[in-house]
Parts: sequence; C-alpha cells; structure tokens
Amino acid sequence: MTGFRAARYSSRRPPVLELRKKQLMASSTSSAITLKINGEKYTLPVDHRTTLLDALRERLDLTGTKKGCDHGQCGACTVLLDGRRSVACLQLAVAAEGREITTIEGVADGERLHPVQQAFLDLDGYQCGYCTPGQICSAIGVIEEHAAGWPSAVTEDIRPEAGRPPLTADEIRERMSGNLCRCGAYVSIVEAVARAAGAGPDEERPLPAATVNVKETAA
Ligand code: FES
Ligand code: FES
Repeated sequence: MTGFRAARYSSRRPPVLELRKKQLMASSTSSAITLKINGEKYTLPVDHRTTLLDALRERLDLTGTKKGCDHGQCGACTVLLDGRRSVACLQLAVAAEGREITTIEGVADGERLHPVQQAFLDLDGYQCGYCTPGQICSAIGVIEEHAAGWPSAVTEDIRPEAGRPPLTADEIRERMSGNLCRCGAYVSIVEAVARAAGAGPDEERPLPAATVNVKETAA
C-alpha cells in the first residue's frame, strides 16, 4: 500500500481532519442566536433542537416561565411573541430570533404590577401559583385579542359588522381554555381576567359584583 493510501485508510485520522469534522458537526447542529426578551438582548449558542422554554429556563435563568407538560397541552409555559400568546415548549429558540419575547418577568412596569397581575393578586386567581405565569401571559393576550375584535369558538355572531363580542365569563373560559390549573382556581381566574379587562357583567352568568366595571384597576 502506498503512503497515501495507508494514510487514507489508517484508523488514526490526521488531527486537522478530525478538527474539521468536529467544526462541521458543530456548525450543523448549533448556532449563536440573539433573543430579545423583555427589551433586553441575549446572545447565546444553542443546539438547534433547544426549545424556547429550555433556553429561557436553563440557559438564561428566566425561570418564571414554567414547564408543565412540555407537550403544548397545559399552557404553563405561555409567553408573548410579538404580543401574541405562544407556548414556549413548542417553539424552537432559533425560530424566536428577531421576535419580541415577553415573559412573566417583563410584564410589570418596574414596581408597578401589570393590571392582570394585580387582578390575580386581588382576587386570589391562584393557589400553588405554578400555572400562574402562563395564565397571566395568556390573559394579557386574551385581552388584546378581544380588544382587537377577534371572535372565539363561543362567539355567537362572528360577522364583522357585529363588532367586538362582549367579554362574558363564557368567552373568558373559552379563550383561556389552553391554560390548565391543577389547583382548580378557575373561578377566580375568570374573575381576574374580567376585572383586568374592565369587562362588564355577563348577562347569562353574572360575575360577582366586585368584578363589574372596575376599570380603574386596568388604568
Ligand atoms: S409546558 Fe408548554 S404547554 Fe405545557
Ligand atoms: S394555581 Fe396551582 S396549578 Fe394553578
């Protein structure tokens, strides 16, 4: 065997080839990305398979966003992407690059709680609190979606000319149905979302008086 062939078939590859192979493998499975989270930019290398949820919790120490099912079924990991609700466990971190990511750590205005946070506090919209960050991010999205006139599956009249549907308890339940609460704090969660939205009374299933026309909370 010639010297060239001996080198080619040798089990010990020249170090430079091994290095190149490692570089190629690394570049095909990971990237350096920059995520904009709560107004701050974070640059980090990530495996392409890393979910946004794991990037937030395990890489950036933003542990307010919770992991429940890790399968898109419980809503515990809900964050806002460009203002819209998204379950971070089904979102790849690389796909979130260039988006405005808002987590529970970023919804308050300094020391001043977001109206949804305040309503959850005032109305006991939680028990153990594990689902609460996702519930609050989701509720913020719900209020925005409703304000924009988006119908839900229980909206009776979805014609554009019908306008924005009233944010009844049934509407809130339907719109928040992707967020599960193992503690069963649903009654208070519905009240808190209604209060934060400044929603009026639900004619079919009246909300408690405390939740009616409390717009000053949302101001
Ligand atoms: S952890 Fe993402 S939906 Fe359950
Ligand atoms: S408050 Fe405990 S899971 Fe919702």
